Amino acid sequence: MPEELKVPRLVTVAEKRAMEEDFHMSSARDTGQLLRTLAASKPGGRLLEIGTGVGVGAGWLLDGMDPAARLITLEVHPEAAQISKEMLASDSRVEVVQANAVDWLRAYDGPLFDLIFVDASVPKYEERALTLSRIAPGGLFVCDDVIWSAAWDPQVRPSKDRVDKFRAEIHGEPDFHVSLLDWGPGICVATRITADAGH
Ligand SMILES: C[S@@+](CC[C@H](N)C(=O)[O-])C[C@H]1O[C@@H](n2cnc3c(N)ncnc32)[C@H](O)[C@@H]1O
Repeated sequence: MPEELKVPRLVTVAEKRAMEEDFHMSSARDTGQLLRTLAASKPGGRLLEIGTGVGVGAGWLLDGMDPAARLITLEVHPEAAQISKEMLASDSRVEVVQANAVDWLRAYDGPLFDLIFVDASVPKYEERALTLSRIAPGGLFVCDDVIWSAAWDPQVRPSKDRVDKFRAEIHGEPDFHVSLLDWGPGICVATRITADAGH
């Protein structure tokens, strides 16, 4: 019998808000549990989430982070960013930034990240090289929705072609060890194994 899942209070509050807002793109609890586990492997780490939604994924990451770790979470949609700021205001380790992640990543010249959870299409697919370039040696790239399902809502989930292309390409990344975890929506975890190329 698996241990009962301890759901962080912030996650419960954000999930409730997502329902009220009719927002159906938040991370599922199995994904969230993995995010918390991975965040806990980076004490004092710099974490980045791309696509905040209404703060569910951030709530899981924060629950795994130690007091010295910091999270930046990027959300392009002004209303979602505003809701997330409210949801996450009680935790001083997180900064919600309303921005297009591609523009933000291009302009970013701070320290590389120890974990990036990419949960928005363009930075995950077309601009993945940019996203990967901001990961520190030993740092993690994490995303979900890597097993396509015919049951997915095409309005909010990727097409089969996009998923298949992602799966083929990510295994070819020379700078990363990659694992595709084929459960739930499918998760990709990859670790940078090379020094950063500078940015
Ligand atoms: C799948 S939802 C995020 C769910 C959230 N990460 C979670 O775990 O609950 C994707 C979010 O990414 C945002 N988004 C899409 N493209 C973006 C971009 N280029 N930059 C920043 N945010 C983006 C959308 O507005 C949406 O709120």
